[in-house]
Amino acid sequence: MYAIPFLDLPPLTGAAGTVRLPGSKSISNRVLLLAGLGAGTTTVHGLLDSDDTAVMLDALRALGCTVDREGGVTRVGGLGGRLAVHEARLFLGNAGTAMRPLAAALAVLAARQGGRFELAGVPRMHERPIGDLVDALRPLGCDVRYLGSEGFPPLAVAGAAGGRLATDAPIRVRGDVSSQFLSALLLALPLAADAADVVVEVVGELISKPYVEITLNLLARFGIAVRREGWQRFTIPAGSFYRTPGEIWVEGDASSASYFVALGAIAATADPVVVEGVGSDSIQGDLRFVDAAVAMGADVVTEPGRVVVRRGAWPLRAITLDANHIPDAAMTLAVMALYADGPSTIANIASWRVKETDRIAALAAELGKLGAAVEAGADFIRVTPPRQWRAAAIHTYDDHRMAMCLSLAAFNPLAGATPPVPVRILEPRCVGKTFPDYFEALFALARTEPAHVPVITIDGPTASGKGTLATAVAAALGYHKLDSGSLYRALALAAMRRQVDTSSGEALAALARRLDLRFDGDRLWLDGTEVSAELRLEVVGSTASRISALPEVRQALHDLQLAFRRPPGLVADGRDMGTVVFPDAALKVFLTASAARRAERRHRQLAEKGIAARIEDLRADLEARDERDRNRSVAPLKPAEDAMLLDNSALGVDQSVAQVLAWWAQRRPFG
Ligand code: DC
Repeated sequence: MYAIPFLDLPPLTGAAGTVRLPGSKSISNRVLLLAGLGAGTTTVHGLLDSDDTAVMLDALRALGCTVDREGGVTRVGGLGGRLAVHEARLFLGNAGTAMRPLAAALAVLAARQGGRFELAGVPRMHERPIGDLVDALRPLGCDVRYLGSEGFPPLAVAGAAGGRLATDAPIRVRGDVSSQFLSALLLALPLAADAADVVVEVVGELISKPYVEITLNLLARFGIAVRREGWQRFTIPAGSFYRTPGEIWVEGDASSASYFVALGAIAATADPVVVEGVGSDSIQGDLRFVDAAVAMGADVVTEPGRVVVRRGAWPLRAITLDANHIPDAAMTLAVMALYADGPSTIANIASWRVKETDRIAALAAELGKLGAAVEAGADFIRVTPPRQWRAAAIHTYDDHRMAMCLSLAAFNPLAGATPPVPVRILEPRCVGKTFPDYFEALFALARTEPAHVPVITIDGPTASGKGTLATAVAAALGYHKLDSGSLYRALALAAMRRQVDTSSGEALAALARRLDLRFDGDRLWLDGTEVSAELRLEVVGSTASRISALPEVRQALHDLQLAFRRPPGLVADGRDMGTVVFPDAALKVFLTASAARRAERRHRQLAEKGIAARIEDLRADLEARDERDRNRSVAPLKPAEDAMLLDNSALGVDQSVAQVLAWWAQRRPFG
């Protein structure tokens, strides 16, 4: 996950491949609640691992449920409808799917068995309405109090043991602000249906009906057959109790699927984008998004467990759609509208205003920054594609869906954007709410021309600290890193192991082409075994320095280095990154430090490893190595003409990193 202040997406030009969706948020949190209220152990497969499920799991633990997680399997030992603790303070982040049903369940449990529970969240949670749920619970006899503003969390629910609930009359709840209030009641009221039927009536129009269907479906899996009359009246039969199905599989998240369905519709011009984890057998209404994507021109085949998407019509067809049934996924349509042949209108989406952020206002602002003309009303948004695309720094408002749907704006070259523009996503880690690895998944499928992928080169002599600097800069930007020296070192090590003649350029080049290397961050495997430590040995370094003077060797390693240039970007360190391998790099840094400083640093590194060395010898070695790297006829060590010179003799690592990032900021189009 990208725990960085911003992530720059380069212009992207295509997509293909398979993505495995994380588990559905809506299903995960409902299953956890049902398992927690029921008796016995429920084994949950494919549970979503995200911020919203983490707060639910913490809450269940605080209430005395047992929770075991192992691999992809979560085991929840439930309460069997009996409170194990009678007082707790629960922190529920910004998870509506935890706040609403837990508030209802704990209100009912406290009213009958006694106790006091507080439920709170992040500041945005305290701006998201819950009054309609509280208004439904109070006439039942539940003691629910607002601890902050009237109508909003935080809440306290309380009661004395032996209390009775007034379930004779139907429980009335409004359904036009959020369907989660009805869902919360349906999930919690089986706790009060031991003796007689419990009836819930919806007042006014019910929005987001497919989410209520998920609730009914999962209640049925836990043995509770709610009778439904239209979308107005729901009866929980007397004698209901939560019977665990034992094992349950969580399907992939259909709202998360929308980004990849859109990706296929926009960018899968040859091979398809295959979305695994949802399909024709899904219980999630958000999959109806597929119909809307098809209406816009996507070529989609829906099968059990997967959806296969290719680009169909291009540009996409503009649509006007009542999106009340797919409120979350419809945000993706608003971004697909950037690629349409005219203005698109997404209507009947007033609930957007009370989600993680006011999504109508947020999308209007951010789509506008990209150059689209946007009109927004109380319950609709109309988007006209940009005439002139602009590089934009997208605010995400701590809303995972803002980050994910707007990432699709990076495909602007496909809409003919001239010039193609990068898209900056601010606070990208907000995707952790439902899809922690979203950007990794996107980059695994996205294609682009190498020229679109920004490269920062950091060249310099040995022990100048370029590796440390490159690692830190790459981490700060979320970019890949290439330690080109490690390739020369790996080749040197392979040659030493196999007794290949290290003076023969041809023999070494042949070996280089067969090299079995695997990288993972700063670690490197050769022929399947990790060699990260061995590569740092002095003898390997000096052999690398010798063989790197051979033109055949440099040529053989060239393509391998180019292959590191992948979205979102690359920081490459070495000797000739800016001069030979990436001459079009967007920023070139030439890092130096006095030989005395470098010898001291190397001496300290060796001392840390318990290796004794004389500082004068180290300095003599460094100078000899510099001399050889500088004077070789191919790719000699020297600054590129357009390189920024950075002498870090008197700088700490943080200062050097700050300097490089400051130069980088000046070269980016985000202001
Ligand atoms: O940076 P390093 O010490 O790990 O590099 C080992 C040797 O590889 C170095 O002495 C010169 C060579 N090298 C090179 O010629 N070109 C590069 N881009 C990187 C390293």
